Amino acid sequence: MMTLTGPFTQLLPLTDIPVRGKLVDEQLSIIPNAGILTDHGKILATGNFNDLREETSGKGVEIHEIVGDAICIPGFIDCHTHLLFAGSRAIDYAARNAGRTYQEIGAAGGGIKDTMGKTRAASTEELAQTLTDRLDLHLRSGITTVEVKSGYGLSVDQELRMLRVIKKTGDAHTADVISTCLAAHVIPSEVGDEQEWLRTILKDIVPVVEAEQLASRFDIFVEGGAFTPEYSRPYLKQLKSQGFGITIHGDQFTVGGSQLAIDVGALSVDHLEVSGEKEIMALADSKVIPVALPGASIGLGCAFTPARKLLDAGASLAIASDWNPGSAPMGDLLTQAAILGTFEKLTTAEVLAGLTFRAAAALGLSDRGSLAVGQKADFITFHATDYREILYKQGQLKPNRVWKNGLPVT
Ligand code: NIG
Ligand code: FE
Repeated sequence: MMTLTGPFTQLLPLTDIPVRGKLVDEQLSIIPNAGILTDHGKILATGNFNDLREETSGKGVEIHEIVGDAICIPGFIDCHTHLLFAGSRAIDYAARNAGRTYQEIGAAGGGIKDTMGKTRAASTEELAQTLTDRLDLHLRSGITTVEVKSGYGLSVDQELRMLRVIKKTGDAHTADVISTCLAAHVIPSEVGDEQEWLRTILKDIVPVVEAEQLASRFDIFVEGGAFTPEYSRPYLKQLKSQGFGITIHGDQFTVGGSQLAIDVGALSVDHLEVSGEKEIMALADSKVIPVALPGASIGLGCAFTPARKLLDAGASLAIASDWNPGSAPMGDLLTQAAILGTFEKLTTAEVLAGLTFRAAAALGLSDRGSLAVGQKADFITFHATDYREILYKQGQLKPNRVWKNGLPVT
């Protein structure tokens, strides 16, 4: 069934904008009094609402009329989250603000391992319910595609349990869930040896992931106290040769992860808070999508990813929430992106691109992120008269409607 939705005060289809490099707002095409024609969950056309209504009259098109002002843009894509976890780390947060560092807390057996203990202790039903609740909140916030990582199981059985919960819960949810195996988050205490754990993942987790199609992507935390570039490299190369997409937590506290991402042909490298000129130039020269995680900078009280410098150098830039109980507990992607925009001096076009088609590129997805013909009909509206109101309200203006696959879902 074909559906025509509109009129929208302004429609920003975000088409024909490059995946890499800096952007100015003049590159955004803005269609006033716009409509979106969809069929079977895909975009058939965008254009003037009245023209589309005339062209399609008598063809059995269902009209969904929008009343009042509405700015329409593609649904947001959160390309980096750790949404599946149990418990809180409010105590870590308070301790960090009182002077302890994230790494000190982790080295003392807290941090990620604290969440591991709470996640292992939670029932599968409880985990599925908390994931559903967080996906619901994300969808209401306009996020129609959500990447979710494992990484708090940290044993063969517990990592597989997390991945099965992500798959089952994701398949049942309205939002699209992209699952990533982050068994290489930190080295489990029971194993203690980095190489041994990476070998175990390849031997005991990967075949099950393949057989049950639990994830098509693998992630690793390349950092002191987690995994070294030296041992991460053969691990990632092996996964890549088996056809998995690669993404890396890199350059968060020390550099090394971004170069490894380039060397192994990763889709993205995420964090990059400490990337310097050398790392920025190398990323700009590569196909790897840099992903800024402003929620982690706000959560840890540290520098933002050098987003301006990356874009000026010619790199791409996606923006994701990193929602997790430790470094990024807030979870509100739009607020975080708006704040990153003010501190890093990003144009509206750069922020919106980072939340949509550039985030899709970080996930290796080419079927979403803009409202071009043939793309998934995932779009959202804000009650406003000008698209610049969205970031101006710094996250306080929430989408008032969300459409997934052409259908209104909120
Ligand atoms: O992206 N840096 C490593 N992993 C997560 C944090 C996980 C946690 O602290 O629970 C991150 O910041
Ligand atoms: Fe993360």
